[in-house]
Amino acid sequence: LRSRGGVLRTELVAAEHENEIAGRRALVLGYNGSVPASTWRVRPGDRIEVRLENRLREPTNLHTHGLHVSPTGNGDNPLISLAPGEVFDYRFDLPPDHPSGVFWYHPHHHGNVADQIFGGLFGAIVVEGDALPVARERVLVISDISFAGGAVAAASEADRMMGREGDFLMVNGQLLPEIVARPRERERWRIVNACTARYLRLALPGQRLELLGIDSGHEPRPRAVDEVLLAPGNRADLLVTMQAGSAQLRTLGYDRGAAMMGGMMAGGGSSSGPALLAFVEVRGPDAAVLPAVPPRAPDADLRSRTPDALREISFTMTMGMGMPQQGGMMALGFDGRAFDAGRIDQRVGAETVEEWTIRNPTPMDHPFHLHVWPMQLIQVNGSAIDGTQWRDVVNVPAQGSVVVRIDFARFTGLTVYHCHILDHEDLGMMGTVKAA
Ligand code: C2O
Ligand code: CU
Ligand code: CU
Repeated sequence: LRSRGGVLRTELVAAEHENEIAGRRALVLGYNGSVPASTWRVRPGDRIEVRLENRLREPTNLHTHGLHVSPTGNGDNPLISLAPGEVFDYRFDLPPDHPSGVFWYHPHHHGNVADQIFGGLFGAIVVEGDALPVARERVLVISDISFAGGAVAAASEADRMMGREGDFLMVNGQLLPEIVARPRERERWRIVNACTARYLRLALPGQRLELLGIDSGHEPRPRAVDEVLLAPGNRADLLVTMQAGSAQLRTLGYDRGAAMMGGMMAGGGSSSGPALLAFVEVRGPDAAVLPAVPPRAPDADLRSRTPDALREISFTMTMGMGMPQQGGMMALGFDGRAFDAGRIDQRVGAETVEEWTIRNPTPMDHPFHLHVWPMQLIQVNGSAIDGTQWRDVVNVPAQGSVVVRIDFARFTGLTVYHCHILDHEDLGMMGTVKAA
């Protein structure tokens, strides 16, 4: 789905439907009966108009993850709620200097996010504007799912504490698809980690992988990599130069820690285990060699700016401690408080640059996500980051911390930051930020 004359206009019907997912027929959720939903292709400066119809049995809404668009009015407002049967007209205006890259859309109704995304409600957004000499481009949306009795499995309390991981890992809704190419072909892969809680450590042994960027950040020139770590919500833009033979796209294991309850582990010990994702078959005559990929203008760098304000935000995962507990489970939030849509947690000055230190005293990693404004990674666990890395989801390691800088430019209004382990978000690990 592509914008025409600067506008992409589409309708999304969110509904439960029967579909063939991960090789079996089951009742799943989806937009317009497809998992993932169609990819939107837009350009900086475009407008996106979406009519969302809620045919679910519970409230929903729509979020354009990572887009630098206004959080007010009919824009990317995470506090909009559509009751079953309701229709809402969204409008997202991309500024003319919007970064290119891969983004995604998904529901954001507090309390229902994990169920709805795990169920199948998500799609990719590509912001074009940096075409490269490649033989083809693929959008690979990676998600996971579990089934019970012909429908999507519900999460147990332990699953929710840990963040649910599905039994089946899918690429574009398919189990172990085959990707076919010719030797020497250069492809561009745009990968979305749409998993509710699973970290992906992607590798393609035997093939040449080069990183073009993560989220809205761009490498100045393609950088050879052996693997790419995507926390839930992150995206990667990659070049793959095909070598003859068979290869496997896999995720290597990632230990994201464990939720502890009174010294006991909740939800099992290991997490985000290794798995096969897709087969890659490279055969046939050699393709013509394409021109080299030109270097790109460097991204903005806030490291030379003196921040206008410093702020600290800390993940909270405790047994109560002044927070309302959820059904006898641990209480999740930030700075000792669970999410409250009626409370403003952080007030920032419009057009200021802030430095945030995000601390994670808990025994598991949490991916920290901020809406509307991208974050530049400055430090992880006290070590300075090399180069310029812009993210909208940054992983905060267990018992660790990250430092980011944010330019609160262009937009004002109320939006949110949260853990992108979506069960944690639903359990209250979310806060509000108001720029004015
Ligand atoms: Cu992808 Cu606030 O979320
Ligand atoms: Cu988001
Ligand atoms: Cu979390």
